[in-house]
Amino acid sequence: MGRLDNKVVIITGGASGIGEGMVDLFAQEGATVIAADINEAALAKASQKPNVTGMKLNVASDEDWQALAKEVNDRFGRIDVLVNNAGISSEKPFEEINSEDWQKMLTVNGFGPFAGMKHVAPYMAAQKKGSIVNISSYTALIGQGFNHYTASKGAVRAISKAAATTFGRQGIRVNALFPGIIETPMTEALSTSKELLGHLIQATPLQRLGKPLDIAQAALFLASDESSYITGAELVIDGGFSAQ
Ligand SMILES: NC(=O)c1ccc[n+]([C@@H]2O[C@H](COP(=O)([O-])OP(=O)(O)OC[C@H]3O[C@@H](n4cnc5c(N)ncnc54)[C@H](O)[C@@H]3O)[C@@H](O)[C@H]2O)c1
Repeated sequence: MGRLDNKVVIITGGASGIGEGMVDLFAQEGATVIAADINEAALAKASQKPNVTGMKLNVASDEDWQALAKEVNDRFGRIDVLVNNAGISSEKPFEEINSEDWQKMLTVNGFGPFAGMKHVAPYMAAQKKGSIVNISSYTALIGQGFNHYTASKGAVRAISKAAATTFGRQGIRVNALFPGIIETPMTEALSTSKELLGHLIQATPLQRLGKPLDIAQAALFLASDESSYITGAELVIDGGFSAQ
């Protein structure tokens, strides 16, 4: 028996990195998984996996979200879990960040999860049950990264708590995860510098960087009925980095 048997799950950014790790784990645990992503080539690969359907979605588009939520509900009959994981990052130094950079970052990383909740929650409310997991970042918790990415992840933190109080009475739980540095395509530039990599590992109490499965396992718990009395919670998964 799987921990997500009979559940229909949408995972955004499901074609790469942390999202891909969640797609694989959730499908193994019996879920019907919709991997939603803007990258169609990567989605085609995801769709070949058992119990996984790839669907094109730009999380920054209200219209895309409306259409995706309807299509998933029409095709699969329900939506039990939404993982708002898709995101972009940037290495631009703060002196060079302009309003266009800011707007793009906040639209994808902030409006994306907001619009996901806005369009999926009504289907969950009709079932009087649902679980939403939002992916923020350790940078939203400590004084690290003075830029538009950190701002966008702070937005995810704030709207997750607000959504938990807004939707709780409709049976919908909303929780947030705060990953530290996880080895994915988003962070692969780090591994090109042995010195920087060594420094980051040294600075982490558990003495390693995170892996997509570290985040996927926490998301699995929050998605499943094992966490049925947990909402508005914040779980940091960073090897102890932000505890220092
Ligand atoms: N990797 C880390 O160290 C780390 C740390 C903290 C938080 N996070 C967060 O975890 C999430 C996943 O990151 P990752 O490292 O797996 O990144 P990744 O770059 O490997 O994957 C991100 C996925 O999101 C998709 N995506 C980007 N823009 C999109 C859009 N507009 N619409 C739909 N899909 C879109 C990409 O195509 C890609 O498949 C992100 O929200 C990221 O900010 C990552």
